[in-house]
Amino acid sequence: MDPRLDDDLVQLPDLLKETQEHAVRLLEGLAERPVAPPPGRREPVALPERGEGARGALEAFARRWEPGFSASAGPRYLGFVTGGSTPAALAGDWLTGALDQNVVGDLDSAAAGLERETVSWLRELLGLPVAYEGAFVSGATMSNVTGLAVAREWIGERRGVSVAEQGLAALGPVRVLSGSPHSSIGKALSVLGLGRSALRRVEPLPGREAVDVDRLAEALRELDGEPAIVVANAGTVNTVDYDDLRAIAALRERHPFWLHVDAAFGAFAALSPEHAHMVDGLGEADSICVDLHKWLNVPYDSAVQLTRRRDLQARVFQNSAAYLGAVGDDPDFVHLTPENSRRLRALAAWFTLAAYGREGHAEIVRRDVALAARLGERLAAMPAYRLLAPVRLNVVCFTVAADPSRADEVARAVAASGEAFVTPTVYAGVPALRAAFSNWRTTEADVERVAEALARAAG
Ligand SMILES: Cc1ncc(COP(=O)(O)O)c(C=O)c1O
Repeated sequence: MDPRLDDDLVQLPDLLKETQEHAVRLLEGLAERPVAPPPGRREPVALPERGEGARGALEAFARRWEPGFSASAGPRYLGFVTGGSTPAALAGDWLTGALDQNVVGDLDSAAAGLERETVSWLRELLGLPVAYEGAFVSGATMSNVTGLAVAREWIGERRGVSVAEQGLAALGPVRVLSGSPHSSIGKALSVLGLGRSALRRVEPLPGREAVDVDRLAEALRELDGEPAIVVANAGTVNTVDYDDLRAIAALRERHPFWLHVDAAFGAFAALSPEHAHMVDGLGEADSICVDLHKWLNVPYDSAVQLTRRRDLQARVFQNSAAYLGAVGDDPDFVHLTPENSRRLRALAAWFTLAAYGREGHAEIVRRDVALAARLGERLAAMPAYRLLAPVRLNVVCFTVAADPSRADEVARAVAASGEAFVTPTVYAGVPALRAAFSNWRTTEADVERVAEALARAAG
């Protein structure tokens, strides 16, 4: 054995303890470190020939890289839609690395059973019917890819071909209809060979991002009975608008389509009694995308993909080999997702759900929603800013009142202050800013600091 490896093995308990102490110091300073330090560009150094052992690696990381890392796990990182990591989720994630399971199937470990239990807990948490089966993937993008791959196979079934067997050429063009889809839908269509141009955007309701269901019905009617895919959006990224899922699902009585719902973070509205109506009808979908590294507050990367047609999913993703086992009626995870070898992502989610249950996670959602509303009120009262949409849930979408073209500059100034991080966007053609609340650590005092940083940045 390499001497450094041998040394590290002997010292493993101390090494893990030192790393843990280091992590604790980092977490204790999380709320005060610069939220998004300008990363700059660091040139890679040459590969160490002999290496310094784990202690040396920790020291080099702390010196060379750590100072440039963002406080994205902290309370005032409001960019994109970013969750943190609850204490229990972090503990679960550490054990995931320590146990290093490969969740291919049931042959050698109970890990797949834990993944199934976690999926069933998530189903209960979000109030979804037991008809859904699910699997963990790396994020909402992969969840959308997987759901749309099943949708593609369903279109094939309707047309009497199997895309999984015969390829796309046998399928022919497919129409995908959506109101305000996340960019990952275009990426999914590209990956799946359906093509980004398969997507036809249906007009939203006036002043909204939610699709106009009458227009959607019209677009479906024009397809004249040709099976299609509808991507409904439950929580748009700019204004957290929701399509009317129940009304869309009802259109299936008249038109053949697969209903995929991108509920990446919006699904968590189910945890707030005041907002649960926004996801009414989610349980009617054929496939659903839910991200967990957003509002469940588990570390990156983690999402779940839910479907009612596991048979079609296995047709697409099956990976039969003598050494991996047959697909069968109850396929192992290796036959259900794009990956073959799979990290036990479910463990961090299992830990946080076991630790805080429905009540704990509902409290996080309710608090984040209240904090977003509070920031919305603060900004509405500042002449420097103008809200571009009502704060429907956990995102505040706003712009610089006098000159929206300054949105980028303001985002940079806020980041440079070290106080907070918000991301620029464009909404309805207007350069804008988004502040997204999905971290369990954020408090009212943080909102005040964010509001003050924004007031200063606007000049
Ligand atoms: C609605 C929606 N769908 C998909 C995604 C993509 O998520 P991920 O980055 O986890 O792939 C996001 C990310 O913000 C999102 O908000």
